[in-house]
Amino acid sequence: MLWPVSTVLVPAERAAGETRVAATPDSVGRLLRLGHHVLVEPGAGAASGHADEAYVAAGAEIVADADAAWSDAEVVLVVGPPDPTRAALLPAGATLIGLLSPARNLETVRTLAERQVRALALELVPRISRAQAMDALTSQANLAGYRAAIVAAAASPRSFPLFMTAAGTLRPATVVVLGAGVAGLQAIATARRLGALVRANDIRPAAAEEVRSLGAEFIDTTDEAGQAEGGYARAASASQLSAQQEVLAEHLAAADAVICTAVVPGKPAPTLVPAEMVERMAPGAVIVDLAAAEGGNCALTDPSGEVTHHGVRLIPAADLARSLPGEASDLYARNTQAVVELLTDDDGVVAPDTDDAIVDAALLTADGVVRHGPTAELLGDHQRA
Ligand code: NAI
Repeated sequence: MLWPVSTVLVPAERAAGETRVAATPDSVGRLLRLGHHVLVEPGAGAASGHADEAYVAAGAEIVADADAAWSDAEVVLVVGPPDPTRAALLPAGATLIGLLSPARNLETVRTLAERQVRALALELVPRISRAQAMDALTSQANLAGYRAAIVAAAASPRSFPLFMTAAGTLRPATVVVLGAGVAGLQAIATARRLGALVRANDIRPAAAEEVRSLGAEFIDTTDEAGQAEGGYARAASASQLSAQQEVLAEHLAAADAVICTAVVPGKPAPTLVPAEMVERMAPGAVIVDLAAAEGGNCALTDPSGEVTHHGVRLIPAADLARSLPGEASDLYARNTQAVVELLTDDDGVVAPDTDDAIVDAALLTADGVVRHGPTAELLGDHQRA
């Protein structure tokens, strides 16, 4: 048997509403086979259906003192970022892996840098084929997109499919999906499976074919300049946005449900549904806004809760993957396990090596500095590498 050379801590998530866990009994088994020792905080997997006993059966140890475990940690796998107080418990040289949302958690990033923690933000993993198993944005966005269509269908006062009955024919619901990335495409596919007529819009020309291949109509407002390096969208200018809003207006006015997924990495979400547009929609229409945490695609989205405006229900839906805790955790745990595998060197030690392009891109803090340029800028240049 290999002597355990790195200890991996799986804490209980502390953010309100978080249901996921960063490692499951299945992924713990794989981490043990890499030679690591795994510690799990009591109840860490409870909300996702994984009891402490299942972790113990997989070979993990349940820790008695969570704060002491953080203070001694070598490798910590998290779903969301720790708050600054918890981040300050980590010892120098610890490796933290998770969806750290750096731009929204600057105090935590500053603390991690000051504590000399090596923090890998999974949002920064590049979208190259070698990194696909580590792509937590994709694994969670797939589930969120699926769930968004279900939430829209459940909140809508009307049925989604075409019904032809002896008592008459009911037309299918019309669903408009804004943004056709990973979440948007899954929302389109799910709304189509529910029988809705689906129209979708994206700023990237490459999205048109993907939308059509799912049996949806593409609302074309594409712009060659809308696509940046790596397949991501560029932020649209004010004049582009107003032209886009004009094209979208007639489609939105006729929609029974709108699913918003349009975002630009590191930027506020574009406003595609202004307040006047909501007022043109029929009462009973539903807007499910997955971009709520980035400001929302609808101007009236309130990230703190659902509001109704002119009879239209506006449902903020950031982190919808949380509503599928078991499956979201299973996929996320495979992502974190793949990252640990990448970081484990030939001696079985977790050691982030910046010669590797994935590590180099994802390593947010190391050696006392914030390595990610845009986050360093937000914090002030003195933190910059
Ligand atoms: P995202 O979550 O960053 O954005 C969602 C969608 O919003 C994108 O399709 C984007 O073009 C769109 N959008 C931005 N501004 C908009 C506007 N003003 N109006 C309408 N739509 C707007 O994107 P996601 O889901 O992360 O995917 C981005 C790209 O990365 C896609 O091309 C996707 O296929 C690609 N990708 C590649 C992977 C790989 O190669 N391993 C893995 C996952 C995604």
